Amino acid sequence: MSQDTWTAVDDYLTRCLVQPDAALDAVLTESAAAGLPAIAVSPPLGKWLHLLARIQNARRILEIGTLAGYSAIWMARALPPDGRLITLESESAHAEHARANLVRANVADRVEIRVGLALDLLPQIDGPFDLIFIDADKASIPDYFRHSMRLSRPGSVIVVDNVIREGAVIDEASHDESVIGVRRFHELVANEPRVSATAMQTVGVKGYDGFTLVVVLS
Ligand code: SAH
Ligand code: DHB
Ligand code: MG
Repeated sequence: MSQDTWTAVDDYLTRCLVQPDAALDAVLTESAAAGLPAIAVSPPLGKWLHLLARIQNARRILEIGTLAGYSAIWMARALPPDGRLITLESESAHAEHARANLVRANVADRVEIRVGLALDLLPQIDGPFDLIFIDADKASIPDYFRHSMRLSRPGSVIVVDNVIREGAVIDEASHDESVIGVRRFHELVANEPRVSATAMQTVGVKGYDGFTLVVVLS
């Protein structure tokens, strides 16, 4: 098994199961042309977030880490007309790309981009949210999880991206602040009686990684 196979299978799944969407495709091609990092969720994972938002009947969604708006558009496409998504982004250049992409995708009326460091913005945000997607700097995941608990209600769902990092997550002696952040987050979850959680390892166009799914119980 190799990256070539994982990429080819992701391409196959995308052709079969992910309806072409000109606005979403344009986010990826224009992000590449503009030199933005190619770290948006994969098309199958974007659709997965979209379906999760639908399963959840989400009306209020919070995202931490916008980049060019790819995952935000996927989730916003699951919102009812009066639904709202707030997405937090520290890089104003990324936020500018996202703004244009949200307009082209016809979801700008449902999505609010707030520009700043997420840890500065989160205290000003009021919940509860039905779905929270954590996908910014990995060192701060424990702090983002603490805020997410404050911004949740029983039944809220929290998804955290990039928790496997090619298996680096199992290195308890790691000095990588991303690995330390993910491990500390999992410790918080393990000691938090108000949630139930699991994680899935994934392979695909973005390599070997995974996500953690948390359901808030009370
Ligand atoms: N969710 C996006 C990808 C996000 S990439 C998608 O799948 O389409 C991570 C983003 O988090 C980057 O744009 C980066 O600038 C932003 N980011 C990093 N640190 C941050 C912080 N402290 N506060 C807010 N955003 C941050
Ligand atoms: C990185 C960040 C992401 O959110 C991701 O999905 C992949 C990679 C990164 O910072 O390297
Ligand atoms: Mg990510």
